[in-house]
Amino acid sequence: MIDKFTTDRKAKLILDGKTIELPIVEGSEGEKAIDIRRLRAETGYITIDSGYMNTGSCASDITFLDGEKGVLQYRGYAIEDLAANCSFIEVAYLLIHGRLPNRDELRNFSELLGLFALIHEDMVHFFDRFPAGASPMSILSSMVNCLCNFYPEMNENPMGNIDMMAARLLSKVRTIAAFSYKKSLGSPLVYPRHDLSYCANFLNMMFDSPVKPYEINATLVRALNQLLILHGDHEQNCSTATVRMVGSAKVNLYASISAGINALWGPLHGGANQAVMEMLEEIHASGGNYRKYIERAKDPNDPFRLVGFGHRVYKTFDPRSRIIKKACDDVLEAMGINSDPLLELAKEIEEVVLRDDYFVERNLYPNVDFYSGIIYRAMGIPVNMFTVMFALGRLPGWIAHWIEMWNDPNGRISRPRQVYVGPKRRKFVPLGER
Ligand code: SDX
Repeated sequence: MIDKFTTDRKAKLILDGKTIELPIVEGSEGEKAIDIRRLRAETGYITIDSGYMNTGSCASDITFLDGEKGVLQYRGYAIEDLAANCSFIEVAYLLIHGRLPNRDELRNFSELLGLFALIHEDMVHFFDRFPAGASPMSILSSMVNCLCNFYPEMNENPMGNIDMMAARLLSKVRTIAAFSYKKSLGSPLVYPRHDLSYCANFLNMMFDSPVKPYEINATLVRALNQLLILHGDHEQNCSTATVRMVGSAKVNLYASISAGINALWGPLHGGANQAVMEMLEEIHASGGNYRKYIERAKDPNDPFRLVGFGHRVYKTFDPRSRIIKKACDDVLEAMGINSDPLLELAKEIEEVVLRDDYFVERNLYPNVDFYSGIIYRAMGIPVNMFTVMFALGRLPGWIAHWIEMWNDPNGRISRPRQVYVGPKRRKFVPLGER
């Protein structure tokens, strides 16, 4: 795919008295890159770029981000349009297939999701063997990794019926998430219903009970659709890059995504939404003195970071955090919550931080994780499941990237180079002489 976007322009590199020319690539939205695929062959040199701050791993036509302008597009559609007008399943279809579904396609996709909503009853018993208090993210990655054993054809033919594999995963992860919550409470499982939409089904499986039927609230269903859409994809973030890295070894979709779930778990990545809520609760419980935390975040000798702020790509507002912040007010109103002290606290922190030189100079703005937990908490979702919600939303993005990577005719196993800085060759010393 890269070759289609190679321009006539060249970058000149002078090395050891020799000048080499490297092709310039320009993407469809004007992103520019120096193509170094021939660098080592022509110069013997590699590049080094810890954390891949300046290094692109692939060309992709799934998601476009402009970090300076705060732009996020899935397959060319602005996130604001998708969040305002679509269901999560419509956007999942868009990410996976590259176009918005028509009515028939959407109906068929939804029916497929309904068909695959159950998990094998043997898998249900797996929950009985996780220790009480097991992390929902570790349960999720274990269950997803194990899922392929119930579909051996996935290993024989990983790209077999991708529509079915994608729909199966989208539907079963929702069920696994809800079942793990019910199991954590020791409550009876609530099975998926064929008459409910994707998000309504999830909320019903989470909160319905034989003794107190759950009343599905349309505002919460709408807000959950929006939240999952906003988490749908985000180009080569840590977990998506992990899915592509693991998938490049030609391992099946479910095993690749299980690896992505584990990457997302980290507090610097998807785990931040849980860490934000824990930080807000700690500040609130200790009297609300958030300035002390802001000062700690600025102290180079203090490892504490103001979770929910900063981003590798966005150097202005994360467009998703703006949409979520607005949805907070709608959800709280729908829940009859006049004011949420943690939301008020979050808004105060944002206001102070955005005027603080330390954060302004480093372009640190609220990211997708700063407000999302307020909504999940208002829905009744426990804090330790916030990152599971992130994973539910990110599934279509991971699936789309895995398919793109797998279908790349120039695709190869991902294997970065390194610069060795360890001991030079030394003489072996037998045990008796050490
Ligand atoms: C997600 O990549 C994606 O797209 C991710 C994501 C997605 O949708 O997949 O958007 C989801 O992961 C959002 C990010 C959630 N994580 C957090 O909220 C954790 C807190 N944020 C940071 O740890 C940090 O901002 C990162 C991890 C998000 C980004 O790290 P970078 O790009 O490696 O930036 P950096 O650590 O080099 O920070 C640059 C400077 C440093 O100061 P100096 O050394 O220049 O003096 O900014 C400082 C950092 O100390 N800094 C912070 C800070 N974030 C960065 N200081 C205080 N609080 C913070 N939150």
